[in-house]
Amino acid sequence: MADKQPIGIFDSGYGGLTVFRSIARLLPDYDFIYLGDNARAPYGNRSFNTIHQYTLEGVQILFDVGCPLVILACNTASAKALRTIQQRDLPNIDATKRVLGVIRPTAEVIGNFSGSKEIGVLGTRGTVQSGSYLMEINHFFPDVKVYQQACPLWVPLIENAEYDQPGADYFVKKYLDQVLAQSAKIDTLLLACTHYPLLKAKIEAYLPNHIRVVPQGDIVGASLVEYLNRHPEMAARLSKGGLQRFFTTSDDTMDFDHHASLFYGEPVLSEFIAIK
Ligand code: DGL
Repeated sequence: MADKQPIGIFDSGYGGLTVFRSIARLLPDYDFIYLGDNARAPYGNRSFNTIHQYTLEGVQILFDVGCPLVILACNTASAKALRTIQQRDLPNIDATKRVLGVIRPTAEVIGNFSGSKEIGVLGTRGTVQSGSYLMEINHFFPDVKVYQQACPLWVPLIENAEYDQPGADYFVKKYLDQVLAQSAKIDTLLLACTHYPLLKAKIEAYLPNHIRVVPQGDIVGASLVEYLNRHPEMAARLSKGGLQRFFTTSDDTMDFDHHASLFYGEPVLSEFIAIK
């Protein structure tokens, strides 16, 4: 096995591509392997144990192809599986490898986006139920009030390419009404699911101008740049050549390529990889 290897990026399906897009723009020299577990997406409504098992299997695939560093570009997986993987699984698999998530880097800066210090967090049921954002944002910004809203129908709408259709409007408005009913002072809505940037235009259309919608891609990308600066020993293990490979657990790679290009903003050519 070559001594330098790509960075792995994992999501339940397509959503992580909105994060990968920012990461690849900020770190264009590095090599990357993206893995979407499309055969089993969405994860959002699944149990803790199932999300942990599926995420660990995805991480293992990326480890098996050589990646020393894996980013969980999925809030649900970060909320429900990351800590167990870091603390319990990694020491048994390979203590020199690293798995990072998207919640902590987002929580570290999101308080700076809000003038009123009241933030709405929109995510899957799993992310909201975990309470991870409440805890993490409170840790970094004790003066910020956080209101959460689960939006369980948004990922299915997006995964099925219905996000820009008129039928999506009902569910966009429904969850926005629910989060904004929690406080009139919310001035920032965090898209705490990597799928949601595809709904950003529709979401903004239902909001007053003073409410800002914040996707995570650039935040997570900037945080990874910083991580590699702080960890030159990890940066030294990563290959550079600007190569990108896309794996999906769905056997319909043409369907993946079609959808994925909408999330990634560029043509995508994927390869099927089976879950063991
Ligand atoms: N993209 C994932 C996230 O950021 C969720 C998608 C799913 O429900 O599988 O939470």
